Amino acid sequence: MGDKPAQEDFWLFGYGSLIWKPPPHFDQRLPGYIEGYVRRFWQDHRGTPEAPGRVATLIDRAHWETLDDHHASARETVWGAAYHIPASHAAEVRDYLDIREINGYSIQYTPFHPAASISDAPAKPIDCLVYIGPPENPQFLGPQDPQKLAEHIVVSRGPSGENKEYLYMLETALVELSPESEDHHISDLARRCREVEAKSKETAHKEAKAAENEAQIDGHPLHKVGSTEEQEEVEK
Ligand code: BEZ
Repeated sequence: MGDKPAQEDFWLFGYGSLIWKPPPHFDQRLPGYIEGYVRRFWQDHRGTPEAPGRVATLIDRAHWETLDDHHASARETVWGAAYHIPASHAAEVRDYLDIREINGYSIQYTPFHPAASISDAPAKPIDCLVYIGPPENPQFLGPQDPQKLAEHIVVSRGPSGENKEYLYMLETALVELSPESEDHHISDLARRCREVEAKSKETAHKEAKAAENEAQIDGHPLHKVGSTEEQEEVEK
């Protein structure tokens, strides 16, 4: 734990948008996992102040075990991608990350295990910098009802984009990393969001049809009349 001198090279572990949006100047990217944490969509971050969205954070597993989570189980491993940042760009990338990500997150170092499928991967785990959202930071929300969370994600958008797109991108990026990297918490939330979207499209479609039907009836000579005068007018 603790800060390393900025001029040294370092490895950075991405478990959220960093998986598909790499930091600048990396010269190696390895898929793999870390242990001792649980990924949850419990960090308040994106969108507008009126509709702040949610993003992924890591929770210390020992702490998560004390929480009453609707998703009551979690894999022992959190999959993501590790990026090597050469010493020549270490300070610049740290500045970039501070601007891009630091919003209630703090830095820890943890061993990263490259996926077994990588033939020339280092034999030993790599010490990796990782951003986690500690429970005491104001953006940490704690356990969320997954259905309510999905409904919130679907309507949240802001300068950094649509919240649901972040979730869908994360789901896809995880599936692409390795056959072992699926995260039930993320795929369940994404499934719920798709359902919410489908239902609201269906409702909008039904409302549009009803409005269309009403407009046609209004324009028809046999439309329901509203007053005696109108009745007489229609009967003439
Ligand atoms: C990430 O892995 O994308 C990430 C998550 C939280 C803070 C910074 C980066």
